[in-house]
Amino acid sequence: MVGALLGLGWRILHSMSPMRAWRILHSTPAWLLDAIARASGRPPPPGLDGEILGRRVESLVGIAAGLDKDARLLWVAWAMGAGFHVVGSVLPEPYEGVEPKILVRLPDGGTLNRLGLPSPGPGPVVERLSGERPPGMPVAVNVAAFTPEGYGRVYRAVEPVADWVEVNISCPNVEAHRSFEDPEVASAICDHLRPRGKPVLLKIPPTLDERRLEGYLDLARSCGFSGIVAGNTLRVRVDGYNAGLGGPRLFPVTLRMVRLLRSWSPRGFTIIAVGGISDGARALEALEAGANAVEVLSAVIHRGPMAPWLIAREASSLLRR
Ligand SMILES: Cc1cc2nc3c(=O)[nH]c(=O)nc-3n(C[C@H](O)[C@H](O)[C@H](O)COP(=O)(O)O)c2cc1C
Repeated sequence: MVGALLGLGWRILHSMSPMRAWRILHSTPAWLLDAIARASGRPPPPGLDGEILGRRVESLVGIAAGLDKDARLLWVAWAMGAGFHVVGSVLPEPYEGVEPKILVRLPDGGTLNRLGLPSPGPGPVVERLSGERPPGMPVAVNVAAFTPEGYGRVYRAVEPVADWVEVNISCPNVEAHRSFEDPEVASAICDHLRPRGKPVLLKIPPTLDERRLEGYLDLARSCGFSGIVAGNTLRVRVDGYNAGLGGPRLFPVTLRMVRLLRSWSPRGFTIIAVGGISDGARALEALEAGANAVEVLSAVIHRGPMAPWLIAREASSLLRR
């Protein structure tokens, strides 16, 4: 029975375009999603337990920002067997994102998306995270804004209800957001966002430019952040629009970033790998390269809701061999 209801829901969603499925997920009442998820139950621990930012987790594989913009999928993430769950990006006020919105599956297991950071603002997110929370699954909130001051506002709103906060400076499909990809421009965020107690991680774009990567590490450390989420979707042009590429093609870049960041960073600095982790072998490679945990998203869009759990189980059985 575990996952059966989610599995049925997934088969229905998978038969439509991912954009339509995403819209349906984001317009289905949260109480209905909670009820389906609770009836499905949580699968048994997949065997890849560990610790992230001082929290014990059943699995080091979590769900990346973008699936759950407004915290309506907390119990769904729990029933998916996620080790942890990232809500967002949350903006300081409601924002519709860009038009036309694009979300497609690519034949290689990847995704292309152009949503442009749609967000209901912090209100509904804080409300849902203040309610009953799924046990044993930390929930992080990913924040973004179009001004440094906006980062400060959204951070102060969500920090009390988050287990940790990700600061997203790397959305590829919003023009106004792109300037924060420059570590020097992003440093202005620090003046408005100083960690108050909960850990804060900087979510950076995929890059093979070592000077830029060092710039991100310096930025995270000088802001007093606890670590880095490396990386995000890669900016590409589709039909004249900017869009973000996710999936296996990113993996070599993700792995290189993790290796370099681990070799440069002080003990205790947290690195979460995201980008192209589509199976257990890749998850294990990222962990062995120095990541403390991994996040997945394109894999969920391709492999279905149990992807985080399946990837953790594959990694743990490879580890035992
Ligand atoms: C549909 C979609 C929406 C996304 N929205 C966000 C977002 O709001 N904030 C963010 O930091 N990353 C967002 N991302 C990026 C993912 O969190 C992740 O970093 C990226 O997809 C790479 O991982 P993957 O190869 O497993 O997909 C989004 C990705 C997708 C596919």
